[in-house]
Amino acid sequence: MTMKILAISGSARQSSTNTALLRAMRTVAPNDITIDVFDGIGDLPVFSPDLEGPDLPDSVRAFMRMIFDSDGLLISSPEYVRSIPGGLKNAIDWLVSGDQVVGKPIALAHASHRGDDMLTILRTVLSTISASFNENLFFRLPLMNETPESIQEILKRPANRQVAEQFLRDFASFCRTQGHDRPDSIIL
Ligand SMILES: Cc1cc2nc3c(=O)[nH]c(=O)nc-3n(C[C@H](O)[C@H](O)[C@H](O)COP(=O)(O)O)c2cc1C
Repeated sequence: MTMKILAISGSARQSSTNTALLRAMRTVAPNDITIDVFDGIGDLPVFSPDLEGPDLPDSVRAFMRMIFDSDGLLISSPEYVRSIPGGLKNAIDWLVSGDQVVGKPIALAHASHRGDDMLTILRTVLSTISASFNENLFFRLPLMNETPESIQEILKRPANRQVAEQFLRDFASFCRTQGHDRPDSIIL
């Protein structure tokens, strides 16, 4: 069975190394794993509980639908001011009261040798919103200041490609074991 991974970058930057890493991972993924990269984090309005329910903005509705339709989430984010970038935290806040993310398998990638303060906080946040956040699955490459083109090339180097493929295989099998936790339907 094909596993559908939704990849979310915490950076809204055009030439983001984290977004480029997620896009490059798509090209090395084994055949039975598809990766869709969500690049609409900047389109989500600032979260307010007042906007939940019938007034849910369309961009948020579409985001929740993508999360629901996926078998797992792969998140890769920069560190901003020793923490999670506001855009990513805002996206996560939108998910807290819904049931799309509760049992959703989640793993982290990271495109820098730095950013460990952010990673610690993000791990705390993700283990709060999902019982299926897997802290042990983590793929990291030091790609700070690299261009999207060079990131593509770096990931295709045999040693990196092998680790990336194994990471994706491990994440896909984790998603398979957690699959039964998905709710049967969603009302959006
Ligand atoms: C507003 C801002 C704040 C940042 N704060 C930190 C920080 O606290 N610690 C750190 O290691 N890097 C910090 N950085 C650097 C980014 O984490 C780093 O450049 C990252 O690789 C960018 O990811 P991206 O290429 O996906 O956008 C900051 C960058 C910006 C723009």
